Amino acid sequence: MALSDLLLLGRGNDLASERGVSCTGELPAASDPSLVARAVAARKSLGSRALVLGHHYQRDEVIAFADITGDSFKLAQAAADTHEAEFIIFCGVHFMAESADILTSAQQKVILPDLAAGCSMADMATASQVNECWKVLEELGVASKTIPVTYMNSSAAIKSFTGKNGGTICTSSNAKAAMSWALEQGEKILFLPDQHLGRNTAVLSLGLSLDDCVLWNPWKPMGGLTQEEIRHAKIILWRGHCSVHGRFTLDNVQAVRAAIPGVQVLVHPECQHEVVSVADVVGSTEMIIRTVDASPTGSKWAIGTELNLVQRLAKKHPDKEIVFLDKTVCYCSTMNRIDLPHLVWVMESLVNNHLVNQIQVDSEVAQYSRLALTRMLAL
Ligand code: 13P
Ligand code: SF4
Repeated sequence: MALSDLLLLGRGNDLASERGVSCTGELPAASDPSLVARAVAARKSLGSRALVLGHHYQRDEVIAFADITGDSFKLAQAAADTHEAEFIIFCGVHFMAESADILTSAQQKVILPDLAAGCSMADMATASQVNECWKVLEELGVASKTIPVTYMNSSAAIKSFTGKNGGTICTSSNAKAAMSWALEQGEKILFLPDQHLGRNTAVLSLGLSLDDCVLWNPWKPMGGLTQEEIRHAKIILWRGHCSVHGRFTLDNVQAVRAAIPGVQVLVHPECQHEVVSVADVVGSTEMIIRTVDASPTGSKWAIGTELNLVQRLAKKHPDKEIVFLDKTVCYCSTMNRIDLPHLVWVMESLVNNHLVNQIQVDSEVAQYSRLALTRMLAL
């Protein structure tokens, strides 16, 4: 394993120091009684110079200041369609801010309020590991028939690899369209980095079988697969997962169904295949919200996704019974790093003409990533 891979493994915990920028000591105290008033004042003074984007997993105190809330697809579209704002303040995680930087013009600056807001799943596929995998596929003579389909939850370097090799990005709301498109372009898919979204979409949406899928383990020679397995597979799934969604189990589903008669189980496709297979409804964060919003009074939902979103839905719909699918509390710790003090800090800094926490993707990486992202937006 390369030293750079070892270093990247710890990246989710240490993005701030790695990128050399810190706001330690400059952050307003979370206990500052004037924090909300400071946020309102800074937001007002930035006016249309700034656009605040908020992913659905953000805390309520941050969502309160978002001009647009959405899933990762909707926020990528919003960034691409934003031409007026000089600053895009991205309240989400690092890969989302990178994608926004790639999709906005050179004059626009994308800001991530806390640079340590990474994504452990995105860190599970490094550029050197993916290049090594592709080399094996080339040596076996199958790379030319393989189309990379890369989940939005990936670094810009992996998106760039995808664009260079004729592939597309997907999100949880368009994975089916992206994989169908890829199978029209080639015979196989290399799906990065979330094995669960890839497997769930292949089997439950495209009607492929579990035997059509193999799992590439980046820590083993040849991904831990035989030449025959690689040649035979239709879908090569990367061995990555989300630690938040990976917690939901079949036991959770059975327990909630026993405890709440008539409950419907609604989960994100990053959950394990055995959970998604028995759920009543499966969808992206935006789809989860639409489904609950459209359901009649008295509906009962057990939701398997990040807790901030589930709690917000429960508050919004007191006429419905909404519970978290797991018994134990589970926030996405990196999404949660962005709080009101960080948002106030970046907004006040911008008001004072001090640009902080800008996310800038290298121009060559951005060029090929844009190709892959644009393919997705056109699907
Ligand atoms: P969405 O694409 O549904 O917003 O999901 C993003 C994400 O990070 C889920 O863990
Ligand atoms: Fe990454 Fe999972 Fe958090 Fe989504 S919920 S940002 S996939 S760690």
